[in-house]
Amino acid sequence: MNEQHPDRNFPKHFFWGASTAAHQVEGGLYNQWTKWELEHAKELAQTAHQRLSWLPNWNEIKDQAEEPENYVSGKGVDHFNRYKEDFDIAKQLNLNAFRFTIEWSRIEPQEGVWDAAALQHYKTYIKELRARKLEPFLNIWHWTVPVWFAEKGGFEKSENIAYFTRFVQKVSEELIDEVEYVITLNEPNVEASFGYLTGLHPPTHTSVWQFMKVYWNLVKTHRQAYKILKTKKPSLQVGIAMQLANIQAKRPHKYLDELTTQWMRYFWNWWFLRRIRKSQDFIGLNYYFSDYFTGLGKRANPKVPINDMGWYMEPEGIYPLLLRTWARFKKPIFITENGLADSQDVHRRWWIEETIVAMERAISEGVDLRGYFHWSLLDNFEWQDGWWPQFGLVHVDRKNGMKRVVRPSAKWFADTIDKIQD
Ligand code: BGC
Repeated sequence: MNEQHPDRNFPKHFFWGASTAAHQVEGGLYNQWTKWELEHAKELAQTAHQRLSWLPNWNEIKDQAEEPENYVSGKGVDHFNRYKEDFDIAKQLNLNAFRFTIEWSRIEPQEGVWDAAALQHYKTYIKELRARKLEPFLNIWHWTVPVWFAEKGGFEKSENIAYFTRFVQKVSEELIDEVEYVITLNEPNVEASFGYLTGLHPPTHTSVWQFMKVYWNLVKTHRQAYKILKTKKPSLQVGIAMQLANIQAKRPHKYLDELTTQWMRYFWNWWFLRRIRKSQDFIGLNYYFSDYFTGLGKRANPKVPINDMGWYMEPEGIYPLLLRTWARFKKPIFITENGLADSQDVHRRWWIEETIVAMERAISEGVDLRGYFHWSLLDNFEWQDGWWPQFGLVHVDRKNGMKRVVRPSAKWFADTIDKIQD
């Protein structure tokens, strides 16, 4: 356990950070997602009403959601060029850590061809983080892959894992000298299910069998990546970021609700983590959802409060989740993502405040929690929903020169960090 601060439960060296992903902020990319966006933007705009008009804020988002442009990541928020300015903002917000992804499609745009300038970009990027005393948390895969890899069948084929591990080998030779924390995969549970079961993400398959294959291949991918990274640098701390939900029975003590709850907790939260438990130094936990289940797997959440995307919000649900995660794995935990779509900034401060209380409570119960990364530093491209959902501590005005505007909740968060660390 880290040394404790005398007045607070937070360890002295707690990481306060924000999280991003290359595809959602960088701009100027060519990968399987950018390709898919251009092919589907029109259709997504046309079906927006059908998918989203139930939202209380539909009138506010309508124009954007029905505009094909909304579904194209395009220039992103130009983080690729403005990253120093963004790091300065992170610093002003009293953060001391930053999670980001390196984009495989930039580094290996064609099979076996390494782009020296892209590698240099990320080397400088890491140096600039270090220069500002922002601890780099390097994330290798956040759902995007080069088009050539997708065309070979991506992670559906176990023989393709070798392409990814060759990339990891390159990363281990070029990019980890100044890095202590690496996350190999972001939310394999979400990407395997959205890409292969529910069909929301490319390649939009809806097959249980393909889902299982991909999910299992991602287990193997992580194990091999872990080995490569640790061989190169044994002191490196390596893990994944898993989307974990606080899953509860809607009617406690009802047999079916409890059964569904146990089942969902096992398959959604623990199955993958158990498969890799010998190949992880910490657990990265992404928390957005508390879900209540009834009967044979029906989700029945309270109707309020909800965020801009209609997601039920229960920030304090992270407390029982932290306890369960700790009890199962007894590994250091980082909250690698946590946040909400809240363009008007009405709920964000409340959400963060509740989360801080919940984290403190968990730490006081012995959970070895070492960091919190808010999702996200900047408003960014929210995958199949595009630009209208706004998750940033910092608003980005894409129509007005990509201007960065710090939200009031972020200022409050910065002051709070300052007080906690004081
Ligand atoms: C993902 C992010 C995404 C966020 C909000 C997480 O599941 O890792 O990429 O933007 O949730 O939906």
